Amino acid sequence: MIIDQEISKKMDALREHLPTEQSLLLPLLHEMQAKEGWISIEAIREAGAYLKLPLARVQEVVSFYTMYNRKPVGKKHVMVCTNVACFLRGADKLVAGLEERLGIHCGQTTADGKYTLNEVECLAACGTAPVMQINEQYYENLDESVIKDIMDKLDRELSHG
Ligand code: FES
Repeated sequence: MIIDQEISKKMDALREHLPTEQSLLLPLLHEMQAKEGWISIEAIREAGAYLKLPLARVQEVVSFYTMYNRKPVGKKHVMVCTNVACFLRGADKLVAGLEERLGIHCGQTTADGKYTLNEVECLAACGTAPVMQINEQYYENLDESVIKDIMDKLDRELSHG
């Protein structure tokens, strides 16, 4: 069971403020992902049963939003926006640099489980393109040297456990 007492309590508190059970789906999936790191088929089934929603509805939502991981990810999930505004400001080169640094291609996780790299659709911060998100945190106005500093800092953080 992924939905434990703690998650249930949070949903009960939210339920009072939301119009329908279906409105709980996004926050529920968010909590489940925070606990497991990704949304498995078991998680989809559990969420559907918990909110009494058809499986297809839950599946649709999980595949629509790129914030839900459909595969296990590394400790740091690096998501680089390669949509128009970011692309025009060199996002593809930044992705190539990250692939080289991490020794993986987009969609892959490093062998040590530290990083997953992905390209994502617009992160809704086009005014400060190029943009990437690592776990919950946004990084904007990127260039190679900014990325180097961010990744060096994360490497240090991860090597200290
Ligand atoms: S195009 Fe990258 S944030 Fe919108």
